[in-house]
Amino acid sequence: MTEAASRATDRAPVDLRTDVPHPARVYDYLLGGKDNFPADRTAAEHGRSSNPASDVAPGANRDWLRRAVTYLTAEQGIRQFLDIGTGLPTAPNVHEVAQGIDPGARVVYTDHDPIVLAHARALLASNPSGVTDYLDADLRDPERIIEAAKRTLDFDQPVALLLVAILHFIGDADEPHRIVGQLLDALPSGSYLALSHLTGDFLPEQWKKVEEIYAARGVTMQVRPKPVIESFFDGLELVDPGVTLVHRWHPDDQDRFADRSDELVSVYGAVARKP
Ligand SMILES: C[S@@+](CC[C@H](N)C(=O)[O-])C[C@H]1O[C@@H](n2cnc3c(N)ncnc32)[C@H](O)[C@@H]1O
Repeated sequence: MTEAASRATDRAPVDLRTDVPHPARVYDYLLGGKDNFPADRTAAEHGRSSNPASDVAPGANRDWLRRAVTYLTAEQGIRQFLDIGTGLPTAPNVHEVAQGIDPGARVVYTDHDPIVLAHARALLASNPSGVTDYLDADLRDPERIIEAAKRTLDFDQPVALLLVAILHFIGDADEPHRIVGQLLDALPSGSYLALSHLTGDFLPEQWKKVEEIYAARGVTMQVRPKPVIESFFDGLELVDPGVTLVHRWHPDDQDRFADRSDELVSVYGAVARKP
């Protein structure tokens, strides 16, 4: 286990604040996981009753993550991943997908939620030829993430930056475009960005309701329209078909959501290369 990994797992117990819903645990519940508490399940069910996409978007996003990491590893030869907003362990995890193709792949996971930290050990079960590491850090502090990730990843070699279903938890006040730009500036040419993001383009009232459910519990959530999501890729070379609903991006025979409607998916995603 690396230095950062032991820091992640040897901490004193933290307050998981089980009385308030946390995005990682709500998402886990919607994916059928067991690492969630009544407050998370209540918020998830409330969202589900307001918005039919709540049932489909998480799984469609997760399938897309698997396909994007497969594409980056198998077709673009990427061997290093910086996954920010990792969430609770969910099979297959990023390192399982990447190391299933190249056992030497190196993955740094990052999240700010103490429950993800508490489960980090499951993310650190690397293939011995590769490395996995975990940083307890906030996306709103990109400098800290870059400095800490450099202990595990070689920033002179291409890195795939994964911002998968996290940026809708960063409100405009926290300048998400500046954050993405700072992270990309630290990566060399030939690196990639894989980003997915919830949209209210198809069910605006229903997603507004979900934003309100989170806001009432103190969590910022901001779904965004396609042009704003596209602008996260400014200056990069988009891989075909560009920013699209995730179930339409490089579908394969393992995809469980290929036949769902656009409004039920409501997540845009894309992969792009830094020139
Ligand atoms: C919906 S989950 C997505 C998990 C995984 N990336 C996926 O797509 O399957 C969003 C994750 O982002 C994390 N997150 C939200 N805001 C964050 C922040 N400011 N810094 C770090 N992680 C954050 C949450 O704790 C949660 O685990």
